This record gives sequence, C-alpha cells and structure tokens, in this order.
Amino acid sequence: MDPTPAELIAARPHLSMHAADGLLMEGVPLNAVADALGTPTWVYAAGAMRARYRALAAAFDRAGLSARIHYAVKANDHLAVLRLFAAEGAGADVVSGGELLRARAAGIPAADIVFSGVGKTDDELRLAVSQGIAQINLESAEELDRLSALAEAMGGTARVVLRVNPDVAADTHTKIATGRAGDKFGIPYVDIVPLYARAARLPGIRPVGLAVHLGSQIMDMAPFAAGYARIASLVTALRAAGETVTTVDCGGGLGIGYRNQPAALPEALAGTIRHAFGGKDLHLALEPGRWLVASAGVLLASVIQPKQAGAHRMVVLDAAMNDLVRPAMYDAWHGIVPVSAVDHVAAASPAYVVGPVCESGDVFARGRHLPALSAGSRVAILDAGAYGAVMSSTYNARPLAAAALVDGARWAAIRPRQNVQALWADDQIPDWLATPP
Ligand code: LLP
Repeated sequence: MDPTPAELIAARPHLSMHAADGLLMEGVPLNAVADALGTPTWVYAAGAMRARYRALAAAFDRAGLSARIHYAVKANDHLAVLRLFAAEGAGADVVSGGELLRARAAGIPAADIVFSGVGKTDDELRLAVSQGIAQINLESAEELDRLSALAEAMGGTARVVLRVNPDVAADTHTKIATGRAGDKFGIPYVDIVPLYARAARLPGIRPVGLAVHLGSQIMDMAPFAAGYARIASLVTALRAAGETVTTVDCGGGLGIGYRNQPAALPEALAGTIRHAFGGKDLHLALEPGRWLVASAGVLLASVIQPKQAGAHRMVVLDAAMNDLVRPAMYDAWHGIVPVSAVDHVAAASPAYVVGPVCESGDVFARGRHLPALSAGSRVAILDAGAYGAVMSSTYNARPLAAAALVDGARWAAIRPRQNVQALWADDQIPDWLATPP
C-alpha cells in the first residue's frame, strides 16, 4: 500500500497542511510561491537542508569520528544551496570542471573541494591542480599517469586518493550502482597496492589515501560494511608495504524513504564506518548528496486538464519528464500531494499522473490515489530536491522551470523561469541556409 498524502506530509517535518492556506513548506504557503512564479517550480526548504546536514555531522561526532563532509554538488548544484552548505562548514565533491567552478562561485574554498569522476579531461585536471583543490580521486592507472605528466609540467603536486572498485553490489537500481566489478568506476581492488606504490614514486603526485563510492539510494548497511571492510584491509596492506595512508573518502550513497519506507540513519552509517576505520588514525571524508537535499525539495505543478482514457483516469500536469526525469529513468516513486487543503480531504481514487511531453515514459505515477483534480489544481511532487533540477532538459522546447528557496517564514526566487527565446538564442543558421531563395 502506498502511503497516503497525509502520511507523506507527516513524515516530512518541513511540510504541513494548513486548513486555509494549503500545503506549507516551513512557514510558507506553497500556493504563494506558485502564485508569484507560476508552475512548474522547484521549491527547496533551507531549514530542512540545514537540519539534515547538522544531523549527519552530529551522528559522526557522536561516534567519535571527525569526518569531513563534502556535499556532492551533482545532487543539487544551485548556488544558493551550495552557499547554504558552505555556511554550515561543508566542502564540495565535484565531478566536472563546471561543478568545480560552480562550487568556487558559491564561495567554497578550493582547499575544501574534492574531484571525483571517471573521465576528467586534461583541461579539468589542469584546472584542479591550478586551483589547488584538496584532493583528486583517481579512477584508473591511465588517469594517474596523465595527471602526473600534467602536474609535473605545471610545476605542481596533486594530492590524490585512489578510488577503489571493491566489487560490492549495492541493493539499488542498476543504473545507480557503481561498485560492481563490471561498472566503469574505480580501480579494481586487486590492483590498488602496486598502483599506490607506483603513484608514490611518480612526479607531481602525492597519494594520501583511498576512496570508495558504492552507488546511490542504498537503504541498508550491508553493502557499506562489505565495501569499507575491503578498504580497511587495503589500508592495512598498504601500510604494511610501507606506504603512507592518511585519508579514506567513504563516498555518498545513503538512501531516503521516498515511499516512507524505513531508511538507514546517519547513526548507522557512522557506526559502520567506525567499525571499519575506527582506531586507524585516518582522516575520514563523506560525499553525501541525496540524503542532504532530496526530501527538502518539491516540484510544484498545476493540472493542465484531467483526461479520461477508457478505464484510466489521468491527470495531465504542466511538469514533465524534462523537469523531473527520475520516474521515467529509474521507475522512481515520488510522493504526489495536493497543495489545496480542500483537495487534500476530498475522496481519492486511482489516477495516472502524466506530463505533456511526447513520450509514453512521461508518467510520474500510475494508479496513484488522488482526489478529483480539475484544471488549475496544484500538486507537489515530493523529494525532488536531489537529482531533480540538475537533470532537467529543455526537451520539447520546454524552458527550464523556476526555483525558489524557503527559509522559515521567508522565501525568495532563486532562479527565474527560463525565457522561451533563450532556447534558441544561441542557435546559428549557416549562411547558405540563411540566404533567402
Ligand atoms: N560520490 C560519488 C563519487 C558519486 O558518484 C555520487 C553520486 C555521490 C558521491 C553522491 O551520492 P548520493 O549520496 O547522492 O547517493 N541520478 C541518480 C543518482 C546518481 C548518483 C550519482 N553519483 C538518481 O536520481 O537516483
């Protein structure tokens, strides 16, 4: 049984239903945001993001681990979000030169940035070295050699960790599991000891430790425990071979209960990490994305029209897969709740909730229990704060949606709706086509 809208709201402390104002995020009626900015619009709760960050940091403190948190920028890269986490003391985990520059633009010091990713170009590696970022997470022997040559030519030294592929299958969607032997990520763990020794002798390179990331939306501790055990034994083997290992980057991946299912808590992750690495005199780091931001965001949408298709009641929204691709891409389940208090208490029946994009996959939910929603009714698609706006496209010439940040009783637009002309403003028509016949 799916959780009801009331159960979904009750499990998200920053959301509540007000009898007159409808769905509130922190102290702000979401209707007020939609009235001002239109729909579709992303809305993020600053208080919820801070609370999650503090809960994660506190769990590690209580476990006696001083773990550095590098927020995974890819989950939600809005400058306001990056600024918020920077103010909490977070660093950033980036996976492209663009994300590196974005994090810098938000005010995150280079010394707090780590750079992961399976394919960093020469330009991106040079950027990382010239900026003097904290650490580059290397994903192959080939990348190690390339970075050594680039850093030496620049007269710099790159602090690196080797990202280990531990060959551990996380119980998550196959498209977001990254730690299995056939996945493109990381260096096979059997190759780590000799490669680390080689890295230690290469010019321009200072190896400081290991990194691992098993995948995303991981709901239980077993894969983390298995992966970290592999890393811990590699640390022991490297030290026995005389190498210096000071850092382990434990990656991200902690999942959330999209369907209100019980999710692993930061305390459990901290305990698992302490079990693997406690007492080993290591600087520990984390790269969480989803856990910090997913539940803090909603995608506000309006009903364009209801549609009856044979036996199926459909609700056609003005938001679509180009805005939030997760249901189409991963069959992801996202809660959908009416914004109006009247709709909230009306009798519900199963409905398909679809977007207007010309793809059969543009479906947010099938058989979802929702009230009769007429044209103009608004809904909030929940847990859209991670891997939402960042994965948007302009498919079907649909401008990127607006975004707003709520913070207690105040809110502000943090990105206007993209102007439709901007979609073709950079298109160029070759001369020979531009010449009129
Ligand atoms: N570190 C590395 C090296 C990563 O590849 C990722 C995510 C993270 C950290 C952050 O993982 P998180 O804590 O957010 O699970 N678009 C997909 C998720 C892709 C995750 C990619 N890597 C989705 O919507 O489910």
